[in-house]
Amino acid sequence: MNITMIGTGYVGLVTGACLAEFGHQVVCMDKDSAKINFLQDGGIPIYEPGLEALVQKNVAEGRLVFSTDMAVSVQSAQAVFVAVGTPSSRRGDGYADLTYIYAAVREMAVHLAGYTVVVDKSTVPVGTARQVARIIAEANPAAEFDVVSNPEFLREGAAISDFMRPDRVVIGSESERATGVMKEIYDPLYLLSTPFVTTTLETAELIKYAANAFLAVKISFINEMATICEAVGADVKDLARAVGLDGRIGRKFLHPGPGYGGSCFPKDTLALLRVAQEHGVAARIVEAGVEVNAAQKARMVKKIRDALGGSESGKTIAGLGLTFKPETDDLRDSPALTILPPLYEKGARLQVHDPQGMKQTAELFPHFTYASSPYEACQGADAVVLFTEWNQYRALDLARIKAVMKGAVFIDLRNVYDPAKVREAGFQYVGVGRL
Ligand code: UDX
Repeated sequence: MNITMIGTGYVGLVTGACLAEFGHQVVCMDKDSAKINFLQDGGIPIYEPGLEALVQKNVAEGRLVFSTDMAVSVQSAQAVFVAVGTPSSRRGDGYADLTYIYAAVREMAVHLAGYTVVVDKSTVPVGTARQVARIIAEANPAAEFDVVSNPEFLREGAAISDFMRPDRVVIGSESERATGVMKEIYDPLYLLSTPFVTTTLETAELIKYAANAFLAVKISFINEMATICEAVGADVKDLARAVGLDGRIGRKFLHPGPGYGGSCFPKDTLALLRVAQEHGVAARIVEAGVEVNAAQKARMVKKIRDALGGSESGKTIAGLGLTFKPETDDLRDSPALTILPPLYEKGARLQVHDPQGMKQTAELFPHFTYASSPYEACQGADAVVLFTEWNQYRALDLARIKAVMKGAVFIDLRNVYDPAKVREAGFQYVGVGRL
């Protein structure tokens, strides 16, 4: 099948490469000619494990091409995926900014030729798919099309395997013909017995927000438990394991930490709150989840300050991990970048390291010192803080770190280390919700 992806960002590029791998002819289109030139020259604009090899393979085998030409890309497509960004609006009110989607759809509509399924892939507020259909009908009254909502559930760092082995495929569609096209597109998954949930447009749009909000609330719940554990002298790691072994609850997403970040949870929880507000209904649990997450980040600042004896002024802090999670170069809403600046403002010197995120962080925070290894970051530091659980930080040589540091405070915001072993190495150990 001929498929066009409008928007070659994270979701568009991963989806395009994976659909090409399924055997479809895919055009990844973007207005950004620098990005398209870079891709045409064999570059990959984002860091995602396995993506480069997948793109190279499908380009070499002739199933994946990149283009800036909307007309040519859309004319021959049987399905056009809209995967342009939906950032939180610049007004800072939590609404998703749909300007990019609507502009792309308006521009695309006039080039539709023959029956085409227009697929909303971007995470969008409830009602967007119907609005997209209205825009297309207005811009091109002769167009023969259906709009489908097909939310993605890709995790950064694991996006390819999430696409190839999803828990489910959600198809919001009110046309049997369009549903048939979608099933053909995802045929390889059908053969793997992946559950398909076919539903209305509004339900599909809401499913994405509900799934992300539930996961975000689950993290806030365990972070709240971690705070209670600290207050009563209990261990949240054992608590999470025991609670999570209840099959009704499940063990995943019960890892306490410095609060969730990334491109989805912060943005989608706020957008869901706005959807609820607009419709005059309460979303108190999600609201609390968002508040607990902000409080968790603030609590981490205090935790670091307390471990430094009540003041960070004049102290050197080694920060390990800047991205919001491992295996990505994404810094959006990264806890490290919320927690470190207030410490800097109060007079701390910051020496940081990250396997992927240093270049972009340096543009935002030029006054931090950027180290070439975790050990260099720890040189002369009073405390080391582990923000992101990259594999290379999971088995650090504690004796070597201790030897280069000035102080002996080890703050493990991901509970990666065994406190006893860290203490044995001569450190004061501080975790999240544990003794
Ligand atoms: C998430 C969803 O998992 C994915 O389905 C959706 O499509 C996009 O949003 P992503 O943002 O890539 O994916 O990362 P995820 O692995 O879900 O982690 C999000 C944040 O939660 C990270 O900051 C992570 O460190 C944090 N987290 C996750 C925890 O603090 N504890 C956990 O137990 C799990």
